[in-house]
Amino acid sequence: MDSHRLLKIGLFGFGCVGQGLYDILSREESLPYKVERICVKTPNKLRPLPAESFTYDPQEVLQDESLDILVEAISDAAEAYTIVAEALRKGKKVVTANKKLVAYHLPELLALQQEFGGVLLYEAAVAGGIPIIRTVEEYFSNEPLERVHGILNGSSNYILSQIFKLQKGYAEALKEAQDKGFAELDPWLDVAGADARHKLCILTAHAFGKTIAPEDVAFFGIDYLGDQDVAYAKQNDAVIKMVASSHLTADGELVPVVLPSLVNASDDLFVVEQEFNGVVVQGTYSGPQLFKGRGAGGHPTGAAVLSDIVSISQGYSYGYKKLHRTTNAPALALDFEFEVYLRSSEPDLVVTLGLANLQNVQRENDTFSVIGTVSLGNLIKAQEQIRSAGAYIMALSSDFAGAYAKKEKEKAELS
Ligand code: HSE
Repeated sequence: MDSHRLLKIGLFGFGCVGQGLYDILSREESLPYKVERICVKTPNKLRPLPAESFTYDPQEVLQDESLDILVEAISDAAEAYTIVAEALRKGKKVVTANKKLVAYHLPELLALQQEFGGVLLYEAAVAGGIPIIRTVEEYFSNEPLERVHGILNGSSNYILSQIFKLQKGYAEALKEAQDKGFAELDPWLDVAGADARHKLCILTAHAFGKTIAPEDVAFFGIDYLGDQDVAYAKQNDAVIKMVASSHLTADGELVPVVLPSLVNASDDLFVVEQEFNGVVVQGTYSGPQLFKGRGAGGHPTGAAVLSDIVSISQGYSYGYKKLHRTTNAPALALDFEFEVYLRSSEPDLVVTLGLANLQNVQRENDTFSVIGTVSLGNLIKAQEQIRSAGAYIMALSSDFAGAYAKKEKEKAELS
């Protein structure tokens, strides 16, 4: 492509991300990119541009051969899938910010690129403005990783910061996260851990060369966080963070999970506040490194989309190096044990979870809280029951991989 020519962008969606990108491009006049067409769903909605700037028919954008790059920034994952799949079938260069779309369809999206010669980039889909996909894909392409974990949802982190730092209530903090444009259209995705799960699936594919289906990842959120859980964290000199984590066990099996965790001041994630995300990439040789940045919001996410636009226009595509190199994709370590805190009013849950090594059982009215150990397999099996019971579960440390093993070792040495 002639680098001086103005490249034309077809944009789907004009919400937080679409407007963020549009605003950045309007301010950065020297950049050779122009949003030429914008497709939105709902006519007659109050928007910061005149109505004639928009089309309501995706085909008008998909069929427009004068467009160089298509950007998909709508929130509905099913519609986003239809648009992105059709664009890739036409061999287009496509940038998406839709994590649910990528998490659920990655193998198919890879196949479409191979068959039709299009390209798909999605840096904005994981950790907002942090360039974590390309970092893991490129910088760490040759180093085996032991673990990637972190805070991958800005809204829930914002809520937790407001609760722990400013003593605000959950509902007020959630409303703020929505008003600031951090939350999903359906904020359940944020607070229940489902959005973090989508992002973890994508990150895991690049970090470990394994495409995992979202259904393989147990997820737990802060939607049932109660005052007594916050008090428990404070008594233990900790805050709570929603941690998404994939690590490999010594046997090479994978442990992917989204689980709120106690986090104390010595934890890398302790400093990640408000809508920021933080990702710790632990290389076998380089050790742990924390990447921290704004995980939500129009400008940070729009900046990540812009970076993809620049890269895709210069011929970049993900090499999926680990994915192509991995012959034996790791299985899930269903026996891996977590040390957790559970609060519920349903004693049956203790049985379903197979909670072992019980300690600190406390009761108040019809509610109890207990500490124990649970396997990944049982977490996966019991997750729906935990959600429907309105129970709250969290890990006692974000160091899933090390904390329990260390305690067991200490116990064995003492006995
Ligand atoms: N709702 C998402 C979040 C937006 O809060 O992290 C960025 O993916």
